[in-house]
Amino acid sequence: MQTKISFSSKSITTRSKKICAVVLTEEKSSWHRLVEKADGTLEYRFGAGKWSAITPRAFRTLVRSIVMNAKGHQLDSIALELSPEAFKKLTPYGDTWFWRTLTENLTLASYEFTHYKSKSPKPTLQEITLYGVVSKTAKTAASEGLIAAEAVNSARTIANTTGEDMNPSGLVAAAQKLAQGTGVKVTVHNKTKIKQLKMGLLSGVGKGASDGPYLIVMEYFGSGKAKASSRPTILIGKGVTYDTGGLNLKPTGGLHEMHMDMSGGAAVIAAITGAARLKLKRDIVAIIPVAENAISDKSMRAGDILTSMSGLTVEVQNTDAEGRLILADALTYAERFYKPKLIIDVATLTGASLVALGQHASALFTKNDTLREKLMVLSEKSGDLLWPLPLWDEYRQYLKGSRGDLQNMNGPANRYGGAIEGAAFLSYFAPKGVPWAHIEMAPRMVSIASDKLAKGATGEPTRLLLHLLAE
Ligand code: BES
Ligand code: ZN
Ligand code: MN
Repeated sequence: MQTKISFSSKSITTRSKKICAVVLTEEKSSWHRLVEKADGTLEYRFGAGKWSAITPRAFRTLVRSIVMNAKGHQLDSIALELSPEAFKKLTPYGDTWFWRTLTENLTLASYEFTHYKSKSPKPTLQEITLYGVVSKTAKTAASEGLIAAEAVNSARTIANTTGEDMNPSGLVAAAQKLAQGTGVKVTVHNKTKIKQLKMGLLSGVGKGASDGPYLIVMEYFGSGKAKASSRPTILIGKGVTYDTGGLNLKPTGGLHEMHMDMSGGAAVIAAITGAARLKLKRDIVAIIPVAENAISDKSMRAGDILTSMSGLTVEVQNTDAEGRLILADALTYAERFYKPKLIIDVATLTGASLVALGQHASALFTKNDTLREKLMVLSEKSGDLLWPLPLWDEYRQYLKGSRGDLQNMNGPANRYGGAIEGAAFLSYFAPKGVPWAHIEMAPRMVSIASDKLAKGATGEPTRLLLHLLAE
């Protein structure tokens, strides 16, 4: 049961009497009261703290809390009316940001993943209506917020689906389905084509599974320029549909969430199809290398040496460092077939990134200062928070191989600087002279309590990518 979210230019006083009005007060944010008024109408008074103190981060959490608490109170339908003037600390971001952020976060907090529930859950919160959306700016921004959040939610659904169902063919089908009717063209390279392309790293990682590997290529040429002269923004996302670790099998406790190891791929699929739905006048290509890191007698072995599409050979020190392998071939593919203006890759590469940052921000790696600053600003603006880690040349030496040109990690079990090592490995494959950033999103793969979101996948950093593409 999905919550219907809509907005209206009318005043909240015109709502039907059955609908509960959410009224923000300046009580502390833990204070909430559900009140039945003399005329029988319901009012949910919701403490938000001093309005003048509400930061963009606090605003997003506030909007989500309203939805989560309304669900908790089993309300069927809520109405609210908020105006940007009330929130002094939000004014620098502008009205467009306000309305978009509002509908976006209402939609994100409404999301629930119920696909595998045998009984359809009791419908709670069937409808949210936002009143007082009057100006043209407000209406446009509010509808864009709905589209953007639908994109994020589609990424969450892809990641929340089991590894059994969202296997390599399943991920291909999901990409095709989301692209339908958007103008995004989807090309899928199968195992044979991947071998012909000499993508030895993607082939190697996918070898152990009976399904896949695939390379999904999604193109959206929205600028109106001819494809041949276009310099697209390229998004690359890790599409490991299940990561057992391979022969370097993951321990119990590390395994059960590995159906979400395609979260980076899901985010870039959501971003390119979302950008098309938002009708952004941009040229965008999304490349998703898809494989299941499975165990069988066909699996790649630790100690194997694979030849990448770039020609560099890679010694597999550990079969569980598979994400960087498939991304490396995708980077070469981007260089070979396009003239990229910018490349962003998104992946759940390392548990070490969680050790470094905890679960509040994805790690950002780039050597390009302008790009780093831009992404940091957009991360605060979108709510998909990032924090930088170094991509210094000093770290590249550890990825030099002894039997091959490179190795996929510094020895089979090194625990120091793991997140940086993943990024440093990719740097050997990133096209020279093209601004490139690696977003390590393992820290944000699943939601935490303070996010005020349903448990499971967050769909990050789809919002960030949509903001980037819009600029
Ligand atoms: N998909 C995992 C990383 C991961 C771990 C994502 C936890 C989300 C939560 C990745 O493929 C992996 O296994 N990385 C190894 C790298 C190591 C072998 C260098 C890791 O983190 O242990
Ligand atoms: Zn993985
Ligand atoms: Mn792994």
